[in-house]
Amino acid sequence: METTPRFDTLLIHGGSIPGPAGATSVPIVQSSSYAYEKAEELEDVFRGRAVGQVYTRIGNPTTEALEKRLALLEGGGTAIATASGMAAITTAVLTILRAGDEILASSSLFGGTFSLFRDTLSNYGITTHFVDPLDLSAVAAGVNERTRLLFVETIGNPKLDVPDIPALADIAHAAGIPILVDSTVSTPWLATGAQLGADILTYSTSKYINGTGTTIGGAIVDRGVFNWNSPKFPHFEPFHKKYRAFAFTARARKLVHKDVGACAAPFNSFLLTEGIQTLALRMERHCANALNLARFLAAHPKVAWVGYSGLEDSPHHAVASRLYGGRHGGLLVFGAGDKASAFKVINGLNMAKNLANIGDAKTLVIHPASTICADYNAEEKALMGVTEDLVRVSVGIEDSRDIIADFTQALDAI
Ligand SMILES: Cc1ncc(COP(=O)(O)O)c(C=O)c1O
Repeated sequence: METTPRFDTLLIHGGSIPGPAGATSVPIVQSSSYAYEKAEELEDVFRGRAVGQVYTRIGNPTTEALEKRLALLEGGGTAIATASGMAAITTAVLTILRAGDEILASSSLFGGTFSLFRDTLSNYGITTHFVDPLDLSAVAAGVNERTRLLFVETIGNPKLDVPDIPALADIAHAAGIPILVDSTVSTPWLATGAQLGADILTYSTSKYINGTGTTIGGAIVDRGVFNWNSPKFPHFEPFHKKYRAFAFTARARKLVHKDVGACAAPFNSFLLTEGIQTLALRMERHCANALNLARFLAAHPKVAWVGYSGLEDSPHHAVASRLYGGRHGGLLVFGAGDKASAFKVINGLNMAKNLANIGDAKTLVIHPASTICADYNAEEKALMGVTEDLVRVSVGIEDSRDIIADFTQALDAI
């Protein structure tokens, strides 16, 4: 009996294309452009009358395999792979908004996204208002007649708060605007876009999708569920006429993605099609190891506080358990008391690496206040939950006992 492939099967086979000579891994098509015998054939491809590749900035067979797999994993739709997670967010946002439009964004965001919204897009007439994503009435009240997008992270990085995405989606839809969800930290393994009710998703594939810290990449998934046929989005009209539910993808591909040029490199797409195959197994271990470390830290006398939604006393435990089926991800934060102690813990770790990334198989730590969030003033840091004593841990998939042993000796030494 034929069945629809399930999530773990799609991770391995979804969107795969056969390689030459029976090769089973997705082939790396390392070519900038694609030749056609006849001028008429290339004209047909350019005009959309025939399907085919043109130029790798616009499309590439290796990248397409990755895109198909990602879209299938989110419960259907289309995907665009990009050069980085920031490229995905930039492309998605520029596809939706025009000068004069506004974004209502969660105040609990990855620093790069915060900077894109606050510092870069504001120069081009796109204003962002930041709001606490846990305060649903503040979010509803934050929508005005110029708001064209609600932007939120599934699990805020590095605050690790867990907004109620379906409730936020209801607010966005009641206002006739889409909700764009950055699910980098949760990945579709914790919950798919279909389960969360997201219209568009973005992620940094540099993290858990890749899994081993070898690649920078990003992706946008358009679930094809938002109705762009609205006076709020007159610039979507020609795309909606022709591409209906997938007007967003059409506008992104025909304009922003093509024009900005932040495309995925074929070799990176290959690494991502390899890495993603073990996502389910890795995420299961990341979650288990993070819970073990969170419990250990919560009981440690030298640890002031721990932020991890898997802990029963976390203020995010109930929402996270409901949305993500008891899975709480691989990131946790803890307070070492003050900045000096936070530095001492980081310097005392032997196995965990001190670096600016998350989602690697290896355990990683960072002191956000002095690094990735160093440019923000005290008020902004407070908004993002970045205290001076905060250490962020991206818990790896090593043996949990070795991770705990590493933190034990580092904490004992302070
Ligand atoms: C939640 C989140 N979104 C987006 C990004 C940006 O991704 P990239 O570094 O691949 O551009 C990051 C990077 O850390 C992130 O954590």
